[in-house]
Amino acid sequence: MGQENRRSSRLLASKLLRWRSLFIALGTIFGLVGLALAASIVYPYVHGTTFVNEGVALERSLVIPPLLDGRVVNGEKVFELTARHGRTELMPGAWSDTAGFNGTYLGPTIRAHTGERVRVDVKNELGETTTVHWHGMHLPAAMDGGPHQPIPSGDTWSPHWTVRNSAATLWYHPHTLGKTSQQVYAGLAGLFLVDDENSDRLGLPNTYGVDDIPLIVQDRRFDEGGRLIYVRDRAQHNFGAMGDDILVNGTRGPYLDVGRRLIRLRILNASNARRYNFGFSDDRPFWQIATDGGLLEAPVERTRALLAPGERAEIVVDLSESDQPVTLMSYAVRGAAPRYHLMRAVLSGANDEYQLFKILELRPHPDAPGTGQLSARLNTIARLRPQDAVRSRVFRMTDRMSINGKPMDHTRIDEVVRKDDIEIWEFDNREALFYHPFHVHNTQFQLLDRDGKPPADHERGWKDTVIVNPLERVRVIIRFADYADPQLPYMYHCHILEHEDMGMMGQFVVVENTSQEAHLDSPLAGTNGSNHGRGE
Ligand code: C2O
Ligand code: CU
Ligand code: CU
Repeated sequence: MGQENRRSSRLLASKLLRWRSLFIALGTIFGLVGLALAASIVYPYVHGTTFVNEGVALERSLVIPPLLDGRVVNGEKVFELTARHGRTELMPGAWSDTAGFNGTYLGPTIRAHTGERVRVDVKNELGETTTVHWHGMHLPAAMDGGPHQPIPSGDTWSPHWTVRNSAATLWYHPHTLGKTSQQVYAGLAGLFLVDDENSDRLGLPNTYGVDDIPLIVQDRRFDEGGRLIYVRDRAQHNFGAMGDDILVNGTRGPYLDVGRRLIRLRILNASNARRYNFGFSDDRPFWQIATDGGLLEAPVERTRALLAPGERAEIVVDLSESDQPVTLMSYAVRGAAPRYHLMRAVLSGANDEYQLFKILELRPHPDAPGTGQLSARLNTIARLRPQDAVRSRVFRMTDRMSINGKPMDHTRIDEVVRKDDIEIWEFDNREALFYHPFHVHNTQFQLLDRDGKPPADHERGWKDTVIVNPLERVRVIIRFADYADPQLPYMYHCHILEHEDMGMMGQFVVVENTSQEAHLDSPLAGTNGSNHGRGE
């Protein structure tokens, strides 16, 4: 009996001990979480933002990507792009291995008018397969330049289409399956500007490189020798490749001489993973005049413009007041969910969204008379109406780099859309700690709401890429007109390029009518009989 008692009391003691350690463990966890949460809220106020490139002088003249001349052949405007590797002096005195179109870093600006027939002969001399995608462009799937239009090294690919977009700042970049992030990072990207009758008439600043300035903004990392490096270490925890240096049009530490007048900046965030909260050093207001896919209905006065990778904004700033230089900056991103900032701060040691950067110094000079003006009315945007939508789709994002639980499979058709149908697409980021910029090929959409709240004025234009913040749900209204192809898909994906490459991408085909079978037939996927989809 005594032995039994002793044994049971020993059992009880060990049980208590186990409970105690459990309590201690739980207490520690809760304590730590609480502390971290408090730290994340206090962090920006105590620590402030880190001025990352404070020591970089803005004293190199901004490179303006050359306009690409096209020649007209049989009523078609033909442009030539050659992708190749090269060496570029990105940092003074140091030559980096880079890649570019018709040059060694970035590519020329293509410019076309709505209604124009264009063809681009894309020659691949990279020594590896690539593709060239026309981001934001409305065009047939076979011309889209996604993963299903690979250009083997040595080949030339000649997509052609009629420009149907309205005036906008679009861009082009590789979209090679699994390799987009590295190829873009190396320098393969360029602008594609579209003009239309409306933009011709408005009188906005539009002299390219003079008062209409393209700004391709990218963060990059360099080694001690000043050479470009691509780092995707695990410590980055799927943040994507980020750098402490900023290049604008490939120029590090840029300034630009401009006239004392209205200056239009066409800003493209062509970074792999960083978003920028643009604003001016003296907090002067500017007017946002365009979103990804074209002009807003009216200028929207702002002091900050947040752009995620893939997004564009056109802004107009008044520099007529004085000769005093003013610097375009990127400020901390505020207002996101605390747990988001917490995660970034804890995982990366330095929250990239609390970082401050100089981007470009603008130096106004009196000797250049102004001509451009800012009209009160810029565009007419026909609103798509939710009551006309025939279908809703939900795209659930997770930080495990999947959409609707599925990582990218280039042999699978994820969605079948009927041509001309109006649909509501909901981007659901409630499971995520990251923000994800959701991009859809081939079309421009309109925002309906963010978490049920109507979009802000500057988001009421045509968009092809939209930030979906952690915990947020964004609904857009969308329509795919003109082109159907049951065999070749378009992509939708997160435009953080590492997320895209890790599988945060899906494929949709546009079909003529619901009875048409979607059936992948692509050089990438092979002819795959097992992947049918049907428009329901
Ligand atoms: Cu800018 Cu699918 O890409
Ligand atoms: Cu795209
Ligand atoms: Cu993402």
